[in-house]
Amino acid sequence: MKITFQKLSLPKTGALVLGVMSGCKLLPLGVEVDAAVDGLLTQAMKDARFDGDDHQTLSVATPRGAVLLYGLGDGESIDELWAEKAGGSIFAALAKTGASKINVIFEPHASAEEGIALRAAHMAFAAQLRAYRFDKYKTQLKNDDLPSLQQMVLLVDKTAAARRAFASLEAVAEGVCLTRDLVSEPPNVLYPESYAKRCAALKELGVKVEVLGEKEMKKLGMGALLGVGQGSVRESKIVVMRWNGASNSRAKPLAFIGKGVTFDTGGISLKPAGGMEDMKWDMGGSGTVVGLMHALAGRKAKVNAIGVIGLVENMPDGNAQRPGDVVTSMSGQTIEVINTDAEGRLVLADVLHYTATKYKPVFMIDLATLTGAMMVSLGQVNCGYFANDDDLSDKIAAAGKATGEGVWRMPLGAEYNKQLDSDIADMKNVGPRWGGAITAACFLERFVGKTPWVHMDIAGMAWTSKDSPTVPKGGTGWGVRLLNRLVADNYE
Ligand code: BES
Ligand code: MN
Ligand code: ZN
Repeated sequence: MKITFQKLSLPKTGALVLGVMSGCKLLPLGVEVDAAVDGLLTQAMKDARFDGDDHQTLSVATPRGAVLLYGLGDGESIDELWAEKAGGSIFAALAKTGASKINVIFEPHASAEEGIALRAAHMAFAAQLRAYRFDKYKTQLKNDDLPSLQQMVLLVDKTAAARRAFASLEAVAEGVCLTRDLVSEPPNVLYPESYAKRCAALKELGVKVEVLGEKEMKKLGMGALLGVGQGSVRESKIVVMRWNGASNSRAKPLAFIGKGVTFDTGGISLKPAGGMEDMKWDMGGSGTVVGLMHALAGRKAKVNAIGVIGLVENMPDGNAQRPGDVVTSMSGQTIEVINTDAEGRLVLADVLHYTATKYKPVFMIDLATLTGAMMVSLGQVNCGYFANDDDLSDKIAAAGKATGEGVWRMPLGAEYNKQLDSDIADMKNVGPRWGGAITAACFLERFVGKTPWVHMDIAGMAWTSKDSPTVPKGGTGWGVRLLNRLVADNYE
């Protein structure tokens, strides 16, 4: 969808979205429109008990064209996140009405006020996020199934500032949509090798992309990761994406690490059939890392960052890893594999150790659809995260608040950690049933060393079966916005 910003004056073509304050108070241009249609808007508000409450909507057909009235409440709660909710909701309300162009007039504050341009940019950003579709495998779409809406015009006085803010946000939206594409792809299409090829496209943005195959990983001693991929006919891969945007190109990078299990059958500890197709999005953590790298490079972030993703397919097979196997990780620590379905932590163990020792990053943040237990704990509302560093933890919490991507800190600790001790190896890959998300995090912590580290268990966040204002159902792209904000607010 095309986004444009224009100076405030009544546009000649296209549908109108008009902000209305509590008490049915139209904004100045709205009053003009109402007069031009003989008070039809005022009458419609009365008839529909529309008052202008926060995010309340009413669509009115007028001789001048379609009008959507949008509630602004008392105007006090309008901030960036308010604008995002509005932008996404407006897109959804008008996407298929037949209108191809809409003009949005929403700001009740004086045009000189700072922040208006930024809010307009966030509104446009949200509309783009909501406009996302994954329909490449639909061959029988009719015209009516497709959105009619092609262009959104936002009316603001400070058009230059709005365009500037939107340019960065557009790169972030592209990153989110890339993540959603990756997460939505079926597992026969997206497997480690084809996934690595998709990552190579980031080179066009100036990202350096390096791919390790099984031969290299064997040499490095990555027995934990390789054991997981052992039952698959697809070769396991690690992809390292590097964006050098800092003025000192040798400055230590920030490191983002992702679980990329392109399909998780559970392996020999086979999962039940019902819902197993969901495990195509068990690469969601890596998808967020790729989308983030796209966002950072797309907006030319002044930072050095690397994304390192471990790509494997977890399959049952004559050659698959068995419960009871003992594998040796790159760190030298041995792991008794009690359950082959606890595979994500085995992949991350080697990727974390590799990243920490090879790149000596400022911090490591890993993302993984790691445990069903995390979904039991926090549902699909907040992402549970674990940290060995309070400062980094606080920054994650702040970025979550700023972007509306909710997070909640979970505990680590020796009492949990020791539950992973094994009788015959340095550790086992699962603890007892209770606190499963926590013992999984404790497992990862054993491979992190002294690097400041955060683990985000996005099992509940990567996929949604319900539309929300900025996230259509399907792959969410969760975390790209949050991590981009973390970088922008603290490391550029
Ligand atoms: N990929 C799953 C976790 C998962 C489940 C993510 C549902 C999203 C939705 C992970 O590999 C897994 O199978 N975890 C097991 C761990 C258990 C064997 C200790 C789980 O959560 O049941
Ligand atoms: Mn599993
Ligand atoms: Zn998994």
